[in-house]
Amino acid sequence: MAHRRAAVVTPWTVRGKIDYGRLMKRFGTMPITPGLLDRIRRHTGRLHHMLRRGVFYSHRDLDAILDHHEGGGRFVLYTGRGPSGPVHLGHLVPWTFTRHLQEAFGSQLLFQFTDDERMLLGDGVDEESAGHWVLENALDVMALGLDPDRTEFIVNVRHAAKLYPLALKIARGLTCSTVRAVFGFGDDSNLGMMFFPSMQAAPCFLASERAGEPVPCLVPAGVDQDPYWRITRDVAGKLGYPKPAQVHGRMLPGLSGGYKMSSSRPVTAVYTTDVPELVERKIAEAETGAHPARCPMYQYRYFLLTKDDDTVREHYVDCLEGDMDCRECKARLAETVNRFLRRHQQRRRLIRGGVEKMLE
Ligand code: TRP
Repeated sequence: MAHRRAAVVTPWTVRGKIDYGRLMKRFGTMPITPGLLDRIRRHTGRLHHMLRRGVFYSHRDLDAILDHHEGGGRFVLYTGRGPSGPVHLGHLVPWTFTRHLQEAFGSQLLFQFTDDERMLLGDGVDEESAGHWVLENALDVMALGLDPDRTEFIVNVRHAAKLYPLALKIARGLTCSTVRAVFGFGDDSNLGMMFFPSMQAAPCFLASERAGEPVPCLVPAGVDQDPYWRITRDVAGKLGYPKPAQVHGRMLPGLSGGYKMSSSRPVTAVYTTDVPELVERKIAEAETGAHPARCPMYQYRYFLLTKDDDTVREHYVDCLEGDMDCRECKARLAETVNRFLRRHQQRRRLIRGGVEKMLE
């Protein structure tokens, strides 16, 4: 008998059908409730479509961040990227939401590039290629409209000195057995990977360390990154820093289903640098679902591309009632994606000089 295996969700592997409700239980996170949404709305005006539609659905201590903000305190945002290759549409989901938070709350953003992690993983990334992808990826981040004056890039190898003192304190507060259990490392895992989580944790405390007083940190990220924040929250108390808060996002499916768009299956991902003909071809060849709720075409609109609720609803109904066949839907999606990419690629070209400076 076929055995249904539970989904695997770790920072390095996302496989199988993800049950987001179960993940909340497993990771011990809280749902973003209607009450919390009302509270956010008071600060941000109309809710961002990723909140209205539950793309960001779970959190830890978001209420404490709002308390702090309402009391006149500032908080920082922190997110990041492992620079191992080109950026696809799935990567843009948390960054787009981060941009919204930065704008709505006027927060400083720390954005980490874990080139160290990619080199340690031994997946073909060396110093030179990491350097290349850091710049390419940073262009994608900034092309989303983040405020350069409120955004600080930390490239781990180049800027190690900013993080190392904090990483040491964090590492001292963690045992090998905790890190092994949380990340699933074994005896054959390399030494660097055992230490690396303290480098990813360090930015959570950087603003507090610099200010000499508690500055809470909110991390918008895919739910696969959660193990890092669990161990960071564990050591925060011991070190006297605020525990980092999180908002967790769902992962955009690949073009042919799958549950996460993945760079390891290139034909299933639309990259930000793809030319229009390639986008058309990839989408034309994608597998559709029998129902919009299970169809990647619909989910691209819903998660990322179509901000207007009426348009999304229309799409849903037209598909269900057979007023629009898959061919037409795909042609329309390709058009939407290409319109988005045209502007994105143009912005990437315009900001190159500025982004190079930001990375120095
Ligand atoms: N480890 C992440 C990755 O491989 C990169 C990362 C570093 C990150 N710091 C982060 C992601 C903070 C989210 C939030 O993509």
